[in-house]
Amino acid sequence: MIRGIFIIGTDTGVGKTLISAGLLYLLLKKKYRAAYFKPVASGEVDIGGVKMSADAAFVKSVTGFSEDQKIVTPFSFADAVAPHLAARLAHRTIETAVIQKSLNDLKARYDVIIGEGAGGLAVPLNDEGYMQYDLIRELGFSCLLVARAGLGTINHTLLTLRVAKSVGLTVKGIIISGVGQTLIEQDNVGMIKKLSGVNAIFTLPAVVGVDTEKMHMENLRDVFEQTINIDDIMGLMEIV
Ligand SMILES: Nc1ncnc2c1ncn2[C@@H]1O[C@H](COP(=O)(O)OP(=O)(O)OP(=O)(O)O)[C@@H](O)[C@H]1O
Ligand SMILES: [Mg+2]
Repeated sequence: MIRGIFIIGTDTGVGKTLISAGLLYLLLKKKYRAAYFKPVASGEVDIGGVKMSADAAFVKSVTGFSEDQKIVTPFSFADAVAPHLAARLAHRTIETAVIQKSLNDLKARYDVIIGEGAGGLAVPLNDEGYMQYDLIRELGFSCLLVARAGLGTINHTLLTLRVAKSVGLTVKGIIISGVGQTLIEQDNVGMIKKLSGVNAIFTLPAVVGVDTEKMHMENLRDVFEQTINIDDIMGLMEIV
């Protein structure tokens, strides 16, 4: 029985990678056989002469998760641009069958899978309009939605939930990332709790100095240990 959840975001740069890394760290610490899976990734870094997805590199540095990058990121593109454009520039076609094969390889070796989307939810993966939400649905994942803490997040969160529902995706929980004590941030949490119709709402404080692009993790692991109960997240996961 393999369980999993797909981390989606209200936008690009909201904290999906940071949260994927933190959750995977907690799972591995609890001795779960857990894996990270980023089927479509834009933007690569050079690690000791080897190019790899910047997101996968950050997750690896936080968690130690080490796996064949062709399986973890079957479609990794050098250019940090939208997936359909990155694929076009690389003269490649994002194929669901290839992604499904990678997922099957992970399922054969792990018990828990943390998927990460690319950017927001309504993101095209090719020029014809095959969408990220189509992929997530076909792979059979339910979702955990990451939202910003600040101004604009109520709109982005409610819009994303509407789209998810309309395409047949289930959002099991929401993590609001970078919540501080300002009136706006505190009110955003309250309003999302009230209006989203999602029962499981988590908040993650701002972790000073964390920068996934620059590979600065600071005390991210401690903050996850102190603020997130991984059993609550496991409770949201479904069989994949
Ligand atoms: N809780 C937080 N505390 C501090 N910084 C945060 C937090 N959440 C997000 N950030 C900031 O947002 C940046 C982007 O986060 P991250 O790379 O996880 O976004 P993403 O949603 O994975 O983006 P992409 O769409 O590129 O995959 C981080 O480098 C960090 O600076
Ligand atoms: Mg990311």
